[in-house]
Amino acid sequence: MIRDLIRQNIRDLSPYSCARDEFSGVAEIYLDANENYKTYSINDYNRYPDPHCTLLREKLDEKLGLPFSKTVIGNGSDELIDNLIRTFCEPKEDKIIIMNPTYGAYKVFADINNVETVFVNYKPSFEIDFELLRTVISKEKNLKILFICSPNNPTGKAENYKTIEEIIKIFNGIVIVDEAYGEFSEQKSCVELISKYDNLVVLKTLSKCFAAAGIRAGIMVANEEIVKVINNMKAPYNVSASTQKEALNILEKSEQIFRQRDEIIERRNRYIKKFETLDFVKKVYKSSANFILLEVIDSGYLCKKLQNDKIIIRNRTKDLYLKNCVRITIGSEEECLAVYNAIKEVTYEKE
Ligand SMILES: Cc1ncc(COP(=O)(O)O)c(C=O)c1O
Repeated sequence: MIRDLIRQNIRDLSPYSCARDEFSGVAEIYLDANENYKTYSINDYNRYPDPHCTLLREKLDEKLGLPFSKTVIGNGSDELIDNLIRTFCEPKEDKIIIMNPTYGAYKVFADINNVETVFVNYKPSFEIDFELLRTVISKEKNLKILFICSPNNPTGKAENYKTIEEIIKIFNGIVIVDEAYGEFSEQKSCVELISKYDNLVVLKTLSKCFAAAGIRAGIMVANEEIVKVINNMKAPYNVSASTQKEALNILEKSEQIFRQRDEIIERRNRYIKKFETLDFVKKVYKSSANFILLEVIDSGYLCKKLQNDKIIIRNRTKDLYLKNCVRITIGSEEECLAVYNAIKEVTYEKE
């Protein structure tokens, strides 16, 4: 039962409520929230935003097929990661599982909440090591959440729907599938699996494919019980009015966004081949995301050289299996060409 996985204090919480929750429709006078009336303001921001992001969630349902009753919007998906850990994990007692290597924020938020992280290393091929996962699940106590990032950051590998289902079947806690890069992948989203599994949460974001990292809008999709508990514990006005407005504008342009996404995929696949021809590059990994992982002769040296040209890429050399690997985001054609030319010109003399 999901209820049993929720921390006692969150289960018992009397959520913050506002007068507008008790009234449906449009009133003529709002004097319930100590806001200011509209005076010098040139926009509509004198009012608190809709805590439920109603219009935005309706639009997500219409444009992306994310069911209205199963969504919660966060101040980026990072806020939702934090909220999920805080909801299900008792500090100093409960634990989360994360695959290794993966997106660093899961562990950071667990650390902030004083929740222990148990790492399950991928195989060197970046496949999930099911034998190890089963052992960890059977040996460790108080495991509440398992994070799986697909396509994974920083490896770019996307998991098959069936593989995710396999994980959900062996883990009784909450399985969080982070699909931040899902739109760039050929694999099917796990959103459909939510009606089948109570313990599945899917995270999405407007920061990647929707080119809106600056507005901070992340999406949680899950069953109503999880949606309700996150709505109860989240900060009531966590998504600003300007973010809700901008997100609606962006979703209206979904067709253009998906055309740009297709261009990024085409460019990614083309640059994978181009990078493979460079002397300084030892290996180019396949990618289902909007970035490419390269193994180079010396990643520290390369990053420094590129910084001198005012080009920033990400050195992942400290991650498991990723010695001398760099992660390069697929930007515009000009940006990708600039990186390519810069790497091509690297003549390596070890300092
Ligand atoms: C896998 C993954 N999840 C979540 C995020 C954070 O997304 P947001 O901008 O929605 O907080 C990132 C950002 O890089 C990411 O790589």
